[in-house]
Amino acid sequence: MPVILGVETSCDETAAAVVRDGRELVSSRLLSQVDLHQKYGGVVPEVAARTHLEAINNVIEGALNAAGRTWSDLDGVACTVGPGLVGTLLVGLAAAKAIAWSCELPLIGVDHLLAHVCANYLNTDLEPPFVALLVSGGHTQIVHFADYRSGRVLGQTLDDAAGEAYDKVARLLGLGYPGGPAIDRLAAEGDPRAFKFPEGLVPGYDFSFSGLKTAVLRCVEKLDKPLPVADLAASFQEAVTRVLVRKTLQAQHELAVGRIVLAGGVAANRQLRSDIEQRSPVPVYFPSPDLCTDNAAMVAAAAHFCGRPLTLGDGVYSRQR
Ligand code: KG4
Ligand code: ZN
Repeated sequence: MPVILGVETSCDETAAAVVRDGRELVSSRLLSQVDLHQKYGGVVPEVAARTHLEAINNVIEGALNAAGRTWSDLDGVACTVGPGLVGTLLVGLAAAKAIAWSCELPLIGVDHLLAHVCANYLNTDLEPPFVALLVSGGHTQIVHFADYRSGRVLGQTLDDAAGEAYDKVARLLGLGYPGGPAIDRLAAEGDPRAFKFPEGLVPGYDFSFSGLKTAVLRCVEKLDKPLPVADLAASFQEAVTRVLVRKTLQAQHELAVGRIVLAGGVAANRQLRSDIEQRSPVPVYFPSPDLCTDNAAMVAAAAHFCGRPLTLGDGVYSRQR
């Protein structure tokens, strides 16, 4: 299927994109709801779903117009079917179904986590096998991809996801939502050795970030105001990055695979990107920052490489995975 329209509504970004052959990003449109949810300190599902509903048609038409294509130029339409917020996923699925039905196009369902990994196929020649470090707001996993279609999870977080830890620590430091980009910026001005935070002692390829978050909280409680936020951000980021890089390199070494792939919102983090690239003996792939966080180009790419054909009767994942 050469030209695919992808739709993404799993959380707080309404996104649509046109991708050719799973590799060539033709156009991408995205409406972020971050400003809307900022005052609540996190995403409010009902507000998110209603906002998707208002935005979705314009975003899809915007992507199609920017691509210089019409409905009849499409060979398929894809949407995220999970994991994500059920009310927001349903908005994207309804839109994709309507297009598929009225234009008589194949409808393709995409897993959001696989889609993050597939962002790495856009504008590159990447091919499996590789080890992926998937670090988003909801998931933290090390996954071995022997082929395009599915991966074997080698380890994952036992509690908070890496992005969740960034968001919670940012809130603690008064940096607002989402916390990742704010900590990324501030950490560049701080001393990563100012505070010694624990990595979380979990064997194998699993992770734990809740102890780290609590350690930052205890430290903040003891400190005088104003807080040395840049040093706290840098020391926290150092602890997160150290464990992510160490375990990913260990997996690459033990499986003897020739490539490492970073995926998910936290893959936009500058220290993570540069530390792993410096230390890896094999090439490291990571998407451009705007393709690390939620977008629809990755959905269209995933539809090409590992999508699942849907019927008009299919739904979204009803459980979180
Ligand atoms: O993949 P994503 O856009 O959404 C989910 O599927 O969860 O990831 C969002 C997460 C948020 O927790 C956000 O704070 C984090 O990615 N994030 C970052 C950066 N940009 C976004 N974390 C660290 N550094 C960044 N530059
Ligand atoms: Zn995501």
